[in-house]
Order: sequence, then structure tokens, then C-alpha cells
Amino acid sequence: MCGIVGYIGEKNAKDIVLNGLKKLEYRGYDSAGMSLWDNKTSDHTLIKVKGRIDALEKRIDIKESPLAIGHTRWATHGKVNQENAHPHTSFSGRFIVVHNGVIDNYKQLKKTYLNDKTFTSETDTEVIAFLIDYFVSESLPADKAILKTLRLLEGSYALLVIDRTQPDLIYAAKHKSPLLMGKSNQGIIIASDMMALLPTADQYVALEDETFVTIHQDAFTIFDLNGTVQPYQMQPIDMDDMSSEKGAFDHFMLKEIHEQPAVIRKILNKYFEKNDVLLDTAMLDTIKKHDRIHILAAGTSMHAGLVAKKLLEQWAGMPTEVHIASEFAYDMPLLNGKPFFIMISQSGETADLRACLMRLKKDHHTVMTVTNVRTSTLAREADMVLTIHAGPEIAVASTKAYTAQIAVLAILSYALSHQSFDLKAELSKIASAMDSLLEKHEDFKPIVESLLNKRHCFYIGRGLDYAVALEAALKLKEISYIQTEGFASGELKHGTIALIEEDTPVIALISQNSTASLTRSNLNEVKSRGAKTLSIVVESLRENGETMLIPDANPSLAPLLMVIPTQLIAYYAALVKGYDIDKPRNLAKSVTVE
Ligand code: G6P
Repeated sequence: MCGIVGYIGEKNAKDIVLNGLKKLEYRGYDSAGMSLWDNKTSDHTLIKVKGRIDALEKRIDIKESPLAIGHTRWATHGKVNQENAHPHTSFSGRFIVVHNGVIDNYKQLKKTYLNDKTFTSETDTEVIAFLIDYFVSESLPADKAILKTLRLLEGSYALLVIDRTQPDLIYAAKHKSPLLMGKSNQGIIIASDMMALLPTADQYVALEDETFVTIHQDAFTIFDLNGTVQPYQMQPIDMDDMSSEKGAFDHFMLKEIHEQPAVIRKILNKYFEKNDVLLDTAMLDTIKKHDRIHILAAGTSMHAGLVAKKLLEQWAGMPTEVHIASEFAYDMPLLNGKPFFIMISQSGETADLRACLMRLKKDHHTVMTVTNVRTSTLAREADMVLTIHAGPEIAVASTKAYTAQIAVLAILSYALSHQSFDLKAELSKIASAMDSLLEKHEDFKPIVESLLNKRHCFYIGRGLDYAVALEAALKLKEISYIQTEGFASGELKHGTIALIEEDTPVIALISQNSTASLTRSNLNEVKSRGAKTLSIVVESLRENGETMLIPDANPSLAPLLMVIPTQLIAYYAALVKGYDIDKPRNLAKSVTVE
């Protein structure tokens, strides 16, 4: 979703901001813009485009600049066009603003303060620029005008503001949308995502909510919204710039699919000492004092939650419910007993989850975040954190985060249980089985070509296989745009089977002994009605004619392997159709608006 990068310092701000914006492309965007100080004209220029950063870059004819701010926009208020792209300028032209987030009361603010003004965009952001100008016209100095504006805003914002009369200064502000300050000895970089700080900065600080910052090239000062200086501590940046490169792979998605065995091994290194689980016993004791777990998540992370629910129930005997975060935040179910909350989020920035967290904290509940980004908002604000150690996930379609989330939650479930099997050995076996499945990844191209030639498709399964079917369907629709449903196979005949016609692709997932024959019967029912079918089956349950085989593993951990072919099916389906695999249409990697 929207991205922000700003830089002031001795290096070339134009290159740093453009590179930073490119690093944020993975989050999804539809237009881009930049404002740079031009030494020739001694003024700021502003360039915006509908479309990609490459197009923006071509339009910039300044070679060097000491100060620049840039933005990638994922439309929330108003169409995708150049007028609505950021930065936005105030009515006198003095202030230039980029903004992530949503201002809920912008219409009201327009009516109260800016009724006589003419706006050039449909965005809520332009109101922020205009308000600052309005308060300056009422004779407030710029910093006081920005603070007054911030105090009036309801909603979320990460903001950078340029005052054209102060060429050596950037203002920043943050509430509910992430914003990080990075520092090196050659300047200050500000960005909405850690990825964009690299390789410019070596230290960073994540801004708290309701903060305002003044930034000069060698120092910055953080204030609260009353203008009182706030203390802060810089942290070293613990991320490798190379890990966000594609390497030998054509797409980040394919690279990330292939990284899964290594991620599982890394998780084993981080969470085991010999055969003992390395999890804080005080943390485990706290969880054990509760009698029901509620998992909150969105998208793929929610699907990982569905698998984790089974593990927490089967292994640890903890009744567990899984909720869609955007539903839970505003339609909270009746909670009884002593509920414990686990938020699963790859990015740790999903706004729907932040809304849940605010609500839960208000009611003094204990919350754990399971995330890939230790420095993220949800990690910082929860009571406990488990890191999934998947490394940066750049492709919008999540793959390695899903399996890493399941692996880490399997370790947690095991640590909460009295199980005595060798989980470490089981997970290492899975990493090796993933390797062997991935060796044959190119075999999926012809399978996809012969199977997926319809506009729709079904994945079916029962129990854990149903949980994987939901993720498999999401993956396929996200990047190949084939309308795909993940379905509980027994439920098909209660209505949905009416959709089956000649050659409708139906893929069955079969990894559980107790339901294998039932799922097969359901597959036969659709086959009799013309469906083109494929079974993905664990070796020990194989029947004649079934060729897509998955190595056997602990059945409770089978989703870690069953999902691999479905990720490859999605990848090759999008490849065959020629779609933008890593940046599918309309989607964002990190969804920072509700
Ligand atoms: C977006 C992404 C999905 C992701 C979901 C939840 O929709 O496109 O891939 O599963 O957000 O994100 P999170 O970072 O909270 O796991």
C-alpha cells in the first residue's frame, strides 16, 4: 500500500528517494510522485505520474538534489490519476505534502476551515496541505500551523511536509501509519518501511503515534502534538539489503517459494537448543493461564491461523477460534472464560489488526503477535512477540510467510502440550521433503496448461486439507485472476456442485487418512458431472492413477507440504497468462488502511 520516502543530506536525495520508492514497489501502488529541491532554480519542483516509478524517473530532469520527498499511492480517496497522486500542494503553493493513511474527518475540516478554497484533487491529503497554509495565513509560524493541523486530524497518517521557504528542513508526523527515521553520518532518511532505509541508513527509530518531527540534514527532533520534545533511542538496522534482491529467479514469488526449506531450518535453529524448544517459560505459563485462544489475522495469515487452530487444539488441548481481523474489530464475539489473543501478521502493519489490538488493549487483554517484522507496529505494541524469521517477503502473494507462520505456531503448540514426539526431527524431514518437491517445480507448467483453461476452479478438501484449500484458492485467484473457491468437499453437494460443468477444474487435497476416501467420493461426484480433476495426495494414501504425490509427514504438519504444489500451480498459471506475478492488480502487500 502507499509508501513514503524522504531524504535530506550530503548524498543525492533524488537517487536515494527513487531507490527507496522502488524498494516499496512490492507493497502495491498505482501512481507515484516526488518533490525535489532544485539547486538551479533554488526552489522545489514537483513531478507526479499515474503508473510506475520508472515513468516518474524519466520525467525528472534534475540530476542532483540535497532534499527530496517521494510517494507511491494506492488509491483510497478518488480515482487513480495524476491529480490524485502525491505530493499535494497547499493553496498558496508554499507547503508540499505526502501522506499515508486515511483522514476520516477531512470533509468536516474542509467545511469548517476551507469552504472558500478550490481543490485540485479528490484526496483527503490535500486538505492537510491546505489546513497548514490556512493556519499560516492566520499568522502562525509553519511548525505551529502543522501541529495545530495534526491536532485536528482524525484517522491515520504518516506525513512528510516541505515548507518552500525553509529549504533545509523536512517536517514529519505519524499517527497509526508507520514511519521510521533512519540516520547515517551523511544524512537523514525517513520511510514508511524498513526496506527503504537500506542501504542509506545504519540506525533507525520507529516513531510513536501522535509525534511530530523536525528534520535537518544532521539531526532531527521528535515532539508530541503539544510541541514537547520527546526522548528517543536509535537502534542498529538488522537487515541485509541483499535479501531483498531476486537473485537467479525470474520472480520474487518463485524465489520465496524456493526459500521455504531454508526458512524452516532457520526457524529450527532459532527455536530449538538441541531437542529442547527455546520459548520463554514465563510466556508459556501466561498462555496456559487462559482457557481459550482467539487467533486474529487477515488473508494468507488467517489461513495459517486455521492450521494453527488444529495444532493448538490437537496437541495442546487449547480450544481455539480463528477470526477475520476486519470483522472482529467491529463485531467482537461474546468472549467467555479467560481469552488469550494471537495476532498473525507477516508485515505486522495490517490496519485491521491494529484496530483489534487497540480494542483488546483497552479491555486489558493479553495479546501475542506472530510476525515476520520484529520492528513492526503490531510487534512493538503487543505484550509478546514471536518472530517467524522468513526474511523479507517481497511478492504480494504470500508463500514463505505462510509456512513459517505454521511452523512457528506448531512449535508454540508443541511447547504448550505434553507431546513427546520429536518435533524438530519432523520439521527437518519436512524441510527436506520441500526440497524434493521444489526440484520438480517446472513439471507444474504443463499440468497448469492442460488443467486451468477455464475462468474458474475449485480446490476441495476436509479438515486440515480444507484449510489448505482456502489458501490454495486465494493464491490462484490473487495472481492468475482465475475465480477460485476453496471448498469443504462434503459441502459441495449442498449447492455449489451446480456450478460444475464440462471441464471445470477441481483439485482435491488428500493428506488425512480419516477423510481420504470421503474426499475421493466427493471428487468422483464432480468428475461424473464433467469436471476435470487432479488429486494432490500424500504417498501413503495414494490410489491408482494418482500422480501428484507428496512425501509423507506427521499428518498434523502435512499443510506445510500440501501447500507447495498449490503455490507452484498459482505461479505457473500467472506465468502462462503473462501476468505481473509479483505485483498483481489491485493488491497491496501491506494493507495499512481499514
Ligand atoms: C494483504 C496481502 C496478503 C496478506 C494480508 C495480511 O492482503 O496481500 O498477502 O496475507 O494482507 O497481511 P499480514 O501482513 O497482516 O499478514
